[in-house]
Amino acid sequence: MRLCINIDHIATLRQVRKEQEPDPVIAAGICEIAGADGIVCHLREDRRHIIDRDVHLLRQTVKTKLDLEMAATDEMVKIACSIKPEMVTLVPERREELTTEGGLDLSALEFKLVPAIEKLKENGIKVSLFIEPNPESVDQALEYGADMIEIHTGKYGLAKESEEIVVELEKIKQMARMAKELGLGVNAGHGLNYNNITAIANIEDIDEVSIGHSIIARAMFTGLESAVRDMVSIIRRVRV
Ligand code: PXP
Repeated sequence: MRLCINIDHIATLRQVRKEQEPDPVIAAGICEIAGADGIVCHLREDRRHIIDRDVHLLRQTVKTKLDLEMAATDEMVKIACSIKPEMVTLVPERREELTTEGGLDLSALEFKLVPAIEKLKENGIKVSLFIEPNPESVDQALEYGADMIEIHTGKYGLAKESEEIVVELEKIKQMARMAKELGLGVNAGHGLNYNNITAIANIEDIDEVSIGHSIIARAMFTGLESAVRDMVSIIRRVRV
């Protein structure tokens, strides 16, 4: 199972002062040295953390795989087509949200998603849709032409009671199975941390996870390289 690291929080810290440090481009290099399989960054409409300069430089420096997270707007599709990351993850975006709050409402967004997916794929970019773990969304992702889904694991991440954890995990497992059988790639992300990653790594159908907050938070105390290595070693205990 591949580990992709979301470096938005590094950029958030930089933007607090609107200066040059810390630089997410340097962070991406350290993540790769420590064993990350890919780098994720979310270019938001309001540029609150990652800015255009970062995406351009990351395209030139990332040696593993660059996953550009973005909303399916004309502006973002244009940027992605000129930068050509290996993949794009389409997410819903609300200005007021602290982080991506849920999966895409695929029915409501069909008129935006379908042309965006087509355009991105024409440009050789693989497309993943960030969705809730429900069967309708998996079917629709396939119908709209996505290459992959990213299952929103936020509810699992927040669950405290063991019953709820089991229920959420089961939903993720079933959706991963269903998507795999339909020929879709299966990623997962949001709210994953050092404690809850093992159960996710045990789901063989999940190809890749996208993790930001927990790794960057640990990095504040242990350093980024060590924080990434810790996550890699937990995953490698269950999956190669
Ligand atoms: N996947 C998606 C689509 C996201 O929007 C985010 C948050 O930016 C993540 C994964 C990573 O979530 P977290 O920061 O909780 O690890």
